[in-house]
Amino acid sequence: MLITFEGIDGAGKSTQVMKLKRHLQERGREVLALREPGGTPVAEQIRELLLESRNDITPAGELLLFSASRAELVQQVIQPALEHGSDVILDRFYDSTTAYQGYGRGLDLGMLAEINRIASCGLVPDITFYLDLMPEDALMRKFSEKSLPLAFESEELDRMENSGLDFYRRVRDGYHKIGGENPERIVMIDALLSPAEINRKITESLDALCAKAH
Ligand code: TYD
Repeated sequence: MLITFEGIDGAGKSTQVMKLKRHLQERGREVLALREPGGTPVAEQIRELLLESRNDITPAGELLLFSASRAELVQQVIQPALEHGSDVILDRFYDSTTAYQGYGRGLDLGMLAEINRIASCGLVPDITFYLDLMPEDALMRKFSEKSLPLAFESEELDRMENSGLDFYRRVRDGYHKIGGENPERIVMIDALLSPAEINRKITESLDALCAKAH
């Protein structure tokens, strides 16, 4: 099973990925947890290029770099793991590209859908958990974690995080549109709920999906 997590930076995805990994392992499943961009030597180098705050990258260049990283991860790691019978939990997949490069940067959505299909080799998640958070709350979380004064641009943030509040508002609206268009796949969860409550909703949805499949 391929399970993906989506949401703006700071929504708490990585905590939920770890909790879900443990939950599935306790049920005897073999689980691989990965995050995008990255996950292979080449994809990790692309990640550094993309997140280094001093790099000036065009929207088209950004799209192609995220997509190149994805193509490496899908073909070298995800597809072999799924074929081997493992579950794969992915912190971000092509919905991130639609939300960030499509709705956020304003690239053409039709062109983007085609590039997403190429980069993911046509792989579609069995289920996607979207953790919904207002950009203002995300920023507050980020800065309180690091005990820094609140600012919408900072050297403490990576290149994507420094894209500004309006960018993150477009990304969040984009996620809402993507969720509305894919209700059978995407489960929307309020990221302000407690981590335990979010985890409960996730495992319930997965149980329901597994019951439907059998
Ligand atoms: P990361 O540190 O992994 O952030 P997070 O913890 O929020 O996942 O950085 C990944 C950044 O790249 C994040 O800002 C989202 C962005 N991104 C895109 O813009 N497009 C994409 O296709 C992907 C996978 C990520």
